[in-house]
Amino acid sequence: HKELTAFPKSFLWGSASAAYQIEGAYREGGKGLSVWDKFVRIPGKTYEGTNGDVAVDHYHRYQEDVDLMAEAGLKAYRFSIAWTRIFPNGKGEPNEAGLKFYDDLINDLIAHKIEPVVTIYHWDLPQALQDEYGGWESREIIPDFLNYAKTLFDRYGDRVRYWVTLNEQNIFMQHGYLMASHPPAVKDPKRMYAANHIGNLVNATVIKYFHEHGYQGQIGPSFAYSPAYPADAAPINQLAADNAEQFNSYYWMDMYVFGHYPDLIRKWQTEQGLAPEITEADDALLKDPLSHPDFMGLNYYQTNTVAANPLDGVGMAAENTSGKKGTSKESGVPGLFKMAKNDYLQKTDWDWNIDPIGLRIALRRINSRYQLPVLITENGLGAFDTLEADHEIHDDYRIHFLREHVKAIHEAISDGVDVIGYTTWSFTDLLSWLNGYRKRYGFVYVNRDEESEKDLARYPKDSFYWYKQVIASNGEDL
Ligand code: BG6
Repeated sequence: HKELTAFPKSFLWGSASAAYQIEGAYREGGKGLSVWDKFVRIPGKTYEGTNGDVAVDHYHRYQEDVDLMAEAGLKAYRFSIAWTRIFPNGKGEPNEAGLKFYDDLINDLIAHKIEPVVTIYHWDLPQALQDEYGGWESREIIPDFLNYAKTLFDRYGDRVRYWVTLNEQNIFMQHGYLMASHPPAVKDPKRMYAANHIGNLVNATVIKYFHEHGYQGQIGPSFAYSPAYPADAAPINQLAADNAEQFNSYYWMDMYVFGHYPDLIRKWQTEQGLAPEITEADDALLKDPLSHPDFMGLNYYQTNTVAANPLDGVGMAAENTSGKKGTSKESGVPGLFKMAKNDYLQKTDWDWNIDPIGLRIALRRINSRYQLPVLITENGLGAFDTLEADHEIHDDYRIHFLREHVKAIHEAISDGVDVIGYTTWSFTDLLSWLNGYRKRYGFVYVNRDEESEKDLARYPKDSFYWYKQVIASNGEDL
């Protein structure tokens, strides 16, 4: 083994969350309703009909949560702002109570020397904008989103140095418009690519505005990247893996960084009648270097393994082809690739592949293709946890998972990748959008389940103390 390069002294060891999954208080402080507030009420959409009305009550308990972050020694905390707290109807006059909530949270973090990493959009679109013009399907969202982002930059820009524009655009567009498993529950690839293109325009507009107006700090999107492996050494499967990289990942990341879609996918979309309309003005905006991110946010959970798929092979409409969620089902894109099994990898309780080396590969591929620093904005293990009688939680499986991933980051840094930080998913347990409260990710157990809010008490798990020691030793003591 070669000597590893040390983690940078400024490395942002942290954890992450999203407003809808933790805050609760869904009608308090003048908050408007988001598309998720509505979607979860449609029977059969979420596990046992769970919703985020109360979630883990972070809105009322944020000080206790920040105290726990400080106790763990977190250097950074990534959270998202609920658009509907700032603009209950998506636009108009900002709501001071909402602005103040995040002011207080940010100040509390800074008082504890924890760097706030703010996600502007983590899926909770104001329902009013969905109703008024179809949300992401209309270009009217561009000025409304920019106005929302500007409001945040102006209010918090003196204290926030890391901004994430859109969380997992690839996931919320595909789940929302291809698989109908997220709002607005559409199954239409043409509409998906059109809405997604508008997502790219929003992302570029906000980044460009940020760069042109002299705000401090850095801005970029968080992308759910699941690198593709070929099922074996057959050239036809190597080609399939290349197709999958372009289709599932470069389609988004190339646009962020270079301002264009991969030719292979443009060609395929044109043949299928699915190509989004790109105007000359779009092209100029997207190619403008000021519209390009300062870092790539990486949400890494697993890899995909793929094989060749004939033109009359399995299709994508029914199932997710992005591989981030649910790789086990037969799915693919005829003529390009289909999902295959990987017998080398173990699985989580939810059937996701466990692949720490895949994280090193993801980091290296982003580095070599885009030459950008990477902020790992999510990575973690969703598992069943058991609360013991003494309020301890012995989550050695989570420690093992995270340790192997930290090692992989260390190796990637030694390979020469510039990694800014690692905000694990998640700090406290929280609502998993579709899986209720039993799929737990946190370092801190929250005492509630689908049936009852119980007392919402917080109990640090064994992994909490493990991570504390990792941070204190800057990644040396694993
Ligand atoms: C990402 C999201 O999709 O992965 C998070 O950004 C999400 O919001 C996380 O919770 C884990 O996914 P899941 O489906 O296990 O909750």
